[in-house]
Amino acid sequence: MNNVKIIGTGSYAPDRIVTNSDLSEIVDTNDEWISSRTGIKERRITTGEDTSVLSTKAALEAIKNANIDPLEIDLVVVGTASPDKFIPSTACIVQAEIGAENATCFDIAAACSGFVYALNIGTQFIKTGQCKTVLVIGAEVLSKIIDWSDRSTCVLFGDGAGAAILQRSQDENGILSIYTGSDGRNGAEFLACSAVPVRNPFITAVEKNDNIVTMSGKDIFRFGTKIIPKCIDQVLENQDCTIEDIKYIVPHQANMRIIDSAAKRLEIHSDKFYMNLDKYGNTSAASIPLALDEMARKGLLHRGDKIILVGFGGGLTFGAVLIEWMID
Ligand code: COA
Repeated sequence: MNNVKIIGTGSYAPDRIVTNSDLSEIVDTNDEWISSRTGIKERRITTGEDTSVLSTKAALEAIKNANIDPLEIDLVVVGTASPDKFIPSTACIVQAEIGAENATCFDIAAACSGFVYALNIGTQFIKTGQCKTVLVIGAEVLSKIIDWSDRSTCVLFGDGAGAAILQRSQDENGILSIYTGSDGRNGAEFLACSAVPVRNPFITAVEKNDNIVTMSGKDIFRFGTKIIPKCIDQVLENQDCTIEDIKYIVPHQANMRIIDSAAKRLEIHSDKFYMNLDKYGNTSAASIPLALDEMARKGLLHRGDKIILVGFGGGLTFGAVLIEWMID
């Protein structure tokens, strides 16, 4: 099996900042309620750019930082729950925009675990020798599927994209351990958004369909607090590491109280979790790569650092990746 490492990251979020007090002009809410219940202060909301545009901007940044030619990319995988279109995939649109003519391209639907799943897919394609260089992206324009009249959901989410370039490595192994799982049986309704209903000339009844996100906040909260420690324990166990070996945990940025509770269960300080939720809200599949790229740009990551990415979300889906950082 080949070794795999991350050689560059990139991210992009729309310019338009929407604060908690901006939202209080749309729904009956206030900064105090949102901040104390979630940790979110503001989020970015697109004024027109769709998921493929955000993805492309994040991808170009990652390509520049990795110092590669787009023609070297063998595979583009986009994790998204809010693609531009059913057909073509966001990945195919990105391929055309960045000039990755030699790549195979597809999207995957794993909600907020989308980036962890995409990273896993990219890693497996390199490990088995089918690909040498892979672009993985997590990107969302959740603002187009949010019910802007529902204060219990619209205050939580934001738009953004993050990307990473994975490459086959001769000697070093950067992706040390991966754990993923799904549970479509228990909790599929905790977080949901319908696609189009069945409609054709041979049936008369057509279901009503609003294509908006619905959520059972308390259920998804409980799920998050339990599944984060489980995923982290699993990747540590696979690699025979302890939590003390880990410099940072980069979690899906959903809610600060979920992180505090997970930290308590793991018996660690919340500071080990890198958070930028206050600035971006919950950007679903984009939240982990947005945070990872921010950490790289801030100079927080050094060669040899061990970090864990951990995601969870609708599906239910969940997963973690233990990474040894290989960029100087
Ligand atoms: N502003 C003000 N009040 C609000 C509000 C808002 N934006 N949203 C809900 N409320 C009100 C409710 O109407 C309710 O009022 P009531 O007691 O008069 O009925 C009250 O606040 C408490 O609502 P509740 O739903 O019990 O709050 P909560 O403590 O469970 O917090 C969430 C709600 C959504 C913040 C919390 O459940 C959560 O974060 N869940 C996880 C969500 C998540 O992370 N989803 C994505 C996962 S990938």
